[in-house]
Amino acid sequence: MVAPKRCLISRAEIARRVTELAERIGRDYAGRDLVMVGVLKGVFIFMADLVRALPFSVEVDFVRLCSYGAGTTTSGEVRITKDVEMSLQGRDVLIVEDIVDTGLSMAFLKHHLASHQPRSLKICCLIDKKERREIEVPLDYVGFPVEKGFLVGYGLDCGEQSRTLPEIYVVDKD
Ligand code: PRP
Repeated sequence: MVAPKRCLISRAEIARRVTELAERIGRDYAGRDLVMVGVLKGVFIFMADLVRALPFSVEVDFVRLCSYGAGTTTSGEVRITKDVEMSLQGRDVLIVEDIVDTGLSMAFLKHHLASHQPRSLKICCLIDKKERREIEVPLDYVGFPVEKGFLVGYGLDCGEQSRTLPEIYVVDKD
């Protein structure tokens, strides 16, 4: 049975916030050599909207991480199942992520990408969810701070379901 859910962030709110983020990023990186590195799979919708809202074109690359625990939990071990394919050395790199939850994925990825010796390395995430944070990672651009809840939609899934919903929902797990 599909768990009941309620809309937390509407399409219009997402669109407005993505435009604001793109304007800030556009100002901050004007005239720079920006590469955006997206974290698959959840980021694919956010990143597609974000890059198209920027005032200039950027290069994009992707990583895929695996953190143990399917479904709604994680055991804390993170590894890379798909690495970046372009050289990041000396470039301005912005990691783009759909959600930061425990922070373990971002802490791991930031450390990993730093070893590629970029000129700068920052993080943009759509949702900064505080409830289960284990490692504090500075988030440079945040779409929506969210206190708690299991979220789906706009790229976020629950067991691969609900990713393609255009809004963000909180799933009622009980
Ligand atoms: C989600 C999300 C982040 C990560 C955040 O990915 O997209 O990459 O978890 O969790 P953390 O802060 O607790 O490390 P997920 O593993 O669900 O994969 P997916 O993006 O392919 O759905």
